[in-house]
Amino acid sequence: MSSTAIAHTNIALIKYWGKQNKELKIPTTNSLSLTLDPFYTKTTLEFIDNDESILYLNDKLVDSSRINSFFSTIKNYVGDFPSLLVKSTNCVPTSAGLASSASAFAALTAALCKQLNLDLSLEDMSKLSRLGSGSSARSFFPNFAIWNKGYDHESSFAELLLDDDLGLCMLVLEVSDQKKEISSSRGMQLVQQSSYYAEWIENSEKQFNDMKWAVLHNDIEQIGHLTESNGLSMHELNKHANPPFDYLTDYSYELISFIQTLRNKKGYFAFVTADAGPNIKVLTTKAEAVKLQELFQENYPTLKTQIALSGPGIQYE
Ligand code: PMV
Repeated sequence: MSSTAIAHTNIALIKYWGKQNKELKIPTTNSLSLTLDPFYTKTTLEFIDNDESILYLNDKLVDSSRINSFFSTIKNYVGDFPSLLVKSTNCVPTSAGLASSASAFAALTAALCKQLNLDLSLEDMSKLSRLGSGSSARSFFPNFAIWNKGYDHESSFAELLLDDDLGLCMLVLEVSDQKKEISSSRGMQLVQQSSYYAEWIENSEKQFNDMKWAVLHNDIEQIGHLTESNGLSMHELNKHANPPFDYLTDYSYELISFIQTLRNKKGYFAFVTADAGPNIKVLTTKAEAVKLQELFQENYPTLKTQIALSGPGIQYE
């Protein structure tokens, strides 16, 4: 018997950037995301008679230590289970430079719950998935999702905010396909020691509440401004860590300023966000995405771009 689940990646409009509990991956702030359609992971599980679980990623046998450690953590919550053969296909093209751990852990957790016949709600599955990768908690839901930071395992879970894309989508700009030098966990650790961190938490809390209101009231202009100010302030914070670091390159900053000019001078609906890497994601509307993509192609002919519409929640096969 085997079980298959598909999960899509998500991009945070209000970021998770710090942990109050490292082991349980309980964040310091609430976060809010948009699930993306073209980037997903499909995972199939079956029981095997082996000491350890084995992972095949895109048909290649790869290092299975992270999933084995995830399974041993998860056994504390769901009880013991046999080793598994895990076959994952990642449709998060490495060239898009998007993190795949969100879709990977959500698909793995959903397939595991199915394989173990656990009848858990999406919210309860998001708690288990969070133990593997924090941001994966939000990948159980379509469109707009929130992750309530909570204070312990039971209270830190994700849920659906709005199952409608509000006409929004993302344009992904691939600045680099190189692996990041500073992992997100390390980045969080560094900023949490910064004297600016308390202020970041305070601002983020307000931005989260304003964003929630804006999503529920279809105020896309406000969604755009909050996305950009929260995203860029995360990168500003990194520059004040000890030691300081910056995921964004000169090229990233050039693209950011091009986007801001298109918005401020030409009236396009285009707002920037970026995660633990140099790639830029532009929040725009489905109506303007193609025109914006053309403008990037004209001005930066070698830049790889991809339009990503909003995506679905967990699916089973
Ligand atoms: O869940 P992680 O460890 O991949 O961290 C994700 C961190 C950001 O992508 C920068 C922000 C977020 O909320 O997704």
